[in-house]
Amino acid sequence: MKKTWWKESVVYQIYPRSFADSNGDGIGDLKGIISKLDYLKKLGVDVIWLSPVYKSPNDDNGYDISDYQDIMDEFGTMADWEELLAEVHNRGMKLIMDLVVNHSSDEHKWFIESKKSKDNPYRDYYIWRPGKDGREPNNWASAFSGSAWQYDETTDEYFLHLFSKKQPDLNWENPTLREEVYKMMNWWLDKGIDGFRMDVVNFISKVEGLPDAPSEAGKKYVSGHEYFMNGPRIHEFLQEMHEKTTANYDVMTVGEMPGVTPAEARAYTAEERGEVYMVFQFEHVDLDSGPDGKWDLRPLKLADLKENLSGWQKGLENIGWNSLYFNNHDQPRMVSRFGNDGKYRVESAKMLATLLHMMKGTPYIYQGEEMGMTNIRFENIEQYKDIETLNMYKEKREQGIPHEKIMESIYVKGRDNARTPVQWDDSEHAGFTTGTPWIEVNPNYKEINAKAVVEDKNSIFYYYQNLIRLRKQHEIIVYGGYDILLEENADIFSYVRTLGDEKLVVVCNFYDQEPTFHLPDDIRFTKSELIVCNYAATEGSVEEFTLKPYEARVYLLK
Ligand code: NOJ
Repeated sequence: MKKTWWKESVVYQIYPRSFADSNGDGIGDLKGIISKLDYLKKLGVDVIWLSPVYKSPNDDNGYDISDYQDIMDEFGTMADWEELLAEVHNRGMKLIMDLVVNHSSDEHKWFIESKKSKDNPYRDYYIWRPGKDGREPNNWASAFSGSAWQYDETTDEYFLHLFSKKQPDLNWENPTLREEVYKMMNWWLDKGIDGFRMDVVNFISKVEGLPDAPSEAGKKYVSGHEYFMNGPRIHEFLQEMHEKTTANYDVMTVGEMPGVTPAEARAYTAEERGEVYMVFQFEHVDLDSGPDGKWDLRPLKLADLKENLSGWQKGLENIGWNSLYFNNHDQPRMVSRFGNDGKYRVESAKMLATLLHMMKGTPYIYQGEEMGMTNIRFENIEQYKDIETLNMYKEKREQGIPHEKIMESIYVKGRDNARTPVQWDDSEHAGFTTGTPWIEVNPNYKEINAKAVVEDKNSIFYYYQNLIRLRKQHEIIVYGGYDILLEENADIFSYVRTLGDEKLVVVCNFYDQEPTFHLPDDIRFTKSELIVCNYAATEGSVEEFTLKPYEARVYLLK
C-alpha cells in the first residue's frame, strides 16, 4: 500500500461550541481554540478536525449551514479563522473542515430562493414533490423524528429533509448545484486547509422516484435508508467531486457513512477509484442497539465487537483505509459506554485507547477523551439541548412512554453526553467560560479536567501521548497486517499485527475479571519487549500472564 501522511496521523476532533469560550458568552469560539493549541501540540496529534464553524441558525449546532463561506457570529470572524489556520500550521499540525453538503440550512440563500416559486432558478437545488393522496410524497422518517417531508404552502409542495425540517436535502442530480459545491470546496482548499470530513456523504444520491419504504407495524413513518444510503449514483458523484476538488491538493478526506459495510467501504476507499480516503463506519457503534434503533438499548457483547472490528480490519486489508473511533460529537463517552466510569475509569479509558490505537487505520480522538470525560445525567429534559434528543423525547411522551424510561435511553445514548463543555480545570464551569455555559458542565469536573491530567505523569493524557509517539516510532502500527487472537475468549480482546519479522501482540482485558492470557504456540520470536501497559507493575511474560481489571498490554516481538 502507498504510504501517506494521513495514514500515519492521529486526528483530534473539536466540537467548537463546547471546546473553549474566550469571550464569556457561554459558547466556545475560535479564539478559545487558538488558546488551547499548545495543549493539543503537547498531546501530539497531527490533524485537527473542526466540526462546522460556518454561518448557521444552529438548529443542529452548525450542521445546518446558511453560508458555506462565512463564519458563525458566536464563533468569531473569518480573520479569527485565518489566524487559527496559521497557528495550527505554525505548530506543524493540519486542519480539516467539516463539509455538510447532503443538506443546507433552510436559511441558506439557495433555499430561500428555491421556496419562492416552481420556476425559480434555484428550485431544483432541493428536492420538492407534490403531496400524495393528501399526505407526504412518501413514508420516509426523518432521523430526528416525524416525517422526512415538510409542506410549504407558497408552492403547495413538500421538500425532503432527512434530518430536521431546517435542514433541507440538496438535490445532487442537479449538475449546477454540484458545480457550486465544488467551487465552494476549492475556495476553502485554496485558503490552505488540509482536507474535509464529509457529513453523511453516502446519502447524497437518492433512488429515482423516491419510493415508499416497506411499512412497519405501528409506525407512521419508516426509515427509507435503502433508498438513499449508498444510492445509485454515489460512486459517480464522489469520483467527480474528488477529481474536481481534492485530487488537486495534498489533503485528506474522510466520508461519514452510516450503513456502510466493509464491501462498500472497499469501493469507496480503494486508492485507484479516487472517492474518499477513508470512511467513518457505524457498525461497531450500533452493536449495543436493538432492532428499534439507537434508543433501543442492548448490552454490548464482546464477541460481537471482536467479530465486527476484525471484519473491518480484514475487509479493507491491502485495498482501502479505515478510521478508528469510539467517540465523537454524536456518540456517548466511550468510558461510560464500553468501559467502567467508576472505580476503573482511568484503567478502562486507557485500555479502550490501546485497543483502538494499535489497530490499522487512522485514529480519531474526540475532545475530552484524553482526560477520560464521562457521560452526563441531567434530571430534567429542559437541561438537554440536542435536537435529536428533544424531538425523540417529545414523540415518545406523546406515545405515552413514561419520562423515566425515555431518560434511561438518553443517559446511555444521547448526543449531549459528548457535548458538555470540555473540563479545563477545577474552577467554576470547569474553566470553559466566565459566563453561563450554553449547556451545563458535568459536575465531575473537579476531579476530571485537563489541568489535573497534565500535572499527573500517569494520566490518561500522557498515555495517549505515548500511543501517538509509538505510532511514529513503529511502522508496524500503521502498516502491519492484522489477525485476531484468542477469538473465543470471553474477557480478552487480543490481536497480533505483523510487518516483516516484527510482531505486535495487543492484549486487552475488557472487564473487571482477572483472566489469563496464553500466547498461541505458532507465534514465534526471539526477543520480546513490553511497550505499553496501563498498570505500573506487570508480572509474567508475553507467553503467559494474568490480567488485572481492564489491563492492556502491548508486546513487540522480533
Ligand atoms: C452527522 C453529524 O455528525 C450530526 O451531528 C448531524 O446531526 C447529522 N450528520 C446531520 O448533519
